[in-house]
Amino acid sequence: MGFADLSGLPYPWDTLEDVRATARAHPGGVVDLSIGTPVDPTPQVVRDALAAASDAHGYPLTHGTPALREAVTGWFARRRGVPGLDPDAVLPTVGSKELVGLLPSLLRLGPGDVVVHPAVAYPTYDVGARLAGATPLATDDVDAWAGRRDVRLVWVNSPGNPTGEVADVAHLRRVVEAAREIGAVVVGDECYAELPWADAWVGDDGVSRVPSLLDPRVTGGGTEGLLAAYSLSKQSNVAGYRAAFVAGDPTLVSGLLATRKHLGMIVPAPVQAAMTAALGDDAHVAAQREVYRGRRAALLGALGTAGFVVDGSEAGLYLWARPADGTPLAGATSRDLAAWFARRGILVGPGEFYGDAGRSHVRVALTAPDGSVAEAVARITTL
Ligand SMILES: Cc1ncc(COP(=O)(O)O)c(C=O)c1O
Repeated sequence: MGFADLSGLPYPWDTLEDVRATARAHPGGVVDLSIGTPVDPTPQVVRDALAAASDAHGYPLTHGTPALREAVTGWFARRRGVPGLDPDAVLPTVGSKELVGLLPSLLRLGPGDVVVHPAVAYPTYDVGARLAGATPLATDDVDAWAGRRDVRLVWVNSPGNPTGEVADVAHLRRVVEAAREIGAVVVGDECYAELPWADAWVGDDGVSRVPSLLDPRVTGGGTEGLLAAYSLSKQSNVAGYRAAFVAGDPTLVSGLLATRKHLGMIVPAPVQAAMTAALGDDAHVAAQREVYRGRRAALLGALGTAGFVVDGSEAGLYLWARPADGTPLAGATSRDLAAWFARRGILVGPGEFYGDAGRSHVRVALTAPDGSVAEAVARITTL
């Protein structure tokens, strides 16, 4: 059989049972900071749009409604510094995860093809490459693949999960130039773009300045070979809706559209309506960011008090933490660090889940209710 064998790839969270059991034994209960699933309510404006579109007797458009695609191009122009995108070059996806997992297959990549992804990364880039039979290459070093004709797809994840690092225009340009020389596709997975923290990535108007892969300063003006993927899961608390899109090179988008039509990979009509409303309303995004800002400040302070250093974390929903040099935990593995938190009844993600280069860190998610964050802060700072 020609099926890609993913059985040797345990779902990382399934291997954390011992740590989970330790955390569960805490008399105060578990505070789960291990997964980036939104915990705050879906904004009313989005729920109302979903409800108003609940009479959905006909098949939805795989390409998305014109209103949705125009909302996407309007959002790119208003929020991401990307004017003039063609609404035809937009395609809704059933959340971003399926796109990340299936894109190598949809691009017909296979044995002998290489898919580049960040050294410390969201695991689905690797899974998607393997599913297609292609070879994943985990590296942040453009020189490691520049000039290699077997490289067909390059993932950029900025702001990054789990590190929260942001790629600047110069780095993105370098990636795009190197990829164009070898005819590789570059995809920017940008689902944390609306959650900037470092001053460098926030404009005076409060709008994110995290550069998109489609930013004209990066592309030189044309989108050939480039796609940006964005998800509303985090910015609008709609992870349960499965609401995302991809946009960029019209030829790539129309190829994906043709295949996805055949496969029935369609975003449900009520979700398309909800996405249209969400993309037209910046207020709920700003309000949600303020909620995360408070949680982030509280956890950042607590981690510092307990002797941790937070690297990266310039944007996004995670603190990428390691013990400061010279502290008792310095040099501990990421699983040992996760166990340290579990003894305090707190679940965090061991950095090794995201690649070998993450083995000295843990990922601490900001996605817990305020009361749980306050409880975590108390537990972390109590010696
Ligand atoms: C880097 C990255 N890409 C994609 C996704 C998938 O998001 P969704 O499938 O909810 O759109 C996530 C979710 O955590 C992520 O961290």
